[in-house]
Amino acid sequence: MSAVMHNAAFRELELDLKYELRSVEPSELGKFVKSFLRKTEVGGANVTIPHKESILEYLDEVDFEASRIGAVNTIKNEGGLLKGYNTDCNGAIRVLEESYGDLSKVKAVMFGAGGAAMAIGYGLSTRVKTLHIFNRTLIRGRRLALELSKLPECKAQVSASPLNEDNLGKVKDADIMINATSLGMGSNLQETPVEAKHITPRTFVFDSVYNPPKTKLLKQAEEIGARTISGVKMLLYQGAASFKIWTQKNPPEEVMLKAIMDSLGCVMN
Ligand SMILES: NC(=O)c1ccc[n+]([C@@H]2O[C@H](COP(=O)([O-])OP(=O)(O)OC[C@H]3O[C@@H](n4cnc5c(N)ncnc54)[C@H](OP(=O)(O)O)[C@@H]3O)[C@@H](O)[C@H]2O)c1
Repeated sequence: MSAVMHNAAFRELELDLKYELRSVEPSELGKFVKSFLRKTEVGGANVTIPHKESILEYLDEVDFEASRIGAVNTIKNEGGLLKGYNTDCNGAIRVLEESYGDLSKVKAVMFGAGGAAMAIGYGLSTRVKTLHIFNRTLIRGRRLALELSKLPECKAQVSASPLNEDNLGKVKDADIMINATSLGMGSNLQETPVEAKHITPRTFVFDSVYNPPKTKLLKQAEEIGARTISGVKMLLYQGAASFKIWTQKNPPEEVMLKAIMDSLGCVMN
């Protein structure tokens, strides 16, 4: 989806740039950075699973937010020197602040503790009142909660518990619910991190999954009357922020969104 949206943006602004996909084995990452990414004709890159964390050791500089998150999804090549950024955080927070509003009094629950959750969790922890993380693998959820709590800029009370029915009681108290797991996409299409009974009409539900744009979680929440937002906007906003880092130009967001929606086979309304 990133190639589709960025190439549409490059065409719109008549930039002589091309976004290409490269598949890189974990054992080949260092070699790839040296032999390809550092070439001066390569303006930058996005980084995705499983390289978002391991890429840090190959970069010359990492911006503050990305180093706090411990993951990079965007690289800019400045004359052979590589600087890393994390635009997932910025993308998710922009979605929430635009769609929900002020986050300072919010009680948030987040499902997941992987790469997306690290970025979203960091952004939330510096803004909301409480953040509770539910993760299938408890140790991973606890580690994320502990790391966020230790940061001097953390404003929230951050806690974690396993993602299972026995622990989901506090979900109903939440103002905002975020799915940062891969439940709802690909082979997990029919799955949801939480049953409908835990969602209330006052819960704001944000699913980071963008394909499909309407996941089972969002359908359940809509039926209950809750406000919802899909991961498509996060995809757009993280991409727009990367575009700005690479080109220093304002991203043509409408063109980028249309390219995503066309590619997903969705009609824009
Ligand atoms: N919209 C956007 O721009 C954007 C950007 C980045 C990511 N995302 C989305 O974020 C989601 C997570 O991506 P990621 O990069 O964070 O992946 P990741 O690092 O692999 O993390 C996956 C997370 O999902 C959980 N999980 C996976 N399968 C599960 C299952 N069957 N039951 C319960 N939990 C399960 C994992 O729990 P364990 O720790 O127990 O394994 C982990 O918390 C994906 O859906 C991706 O599309 C969206």
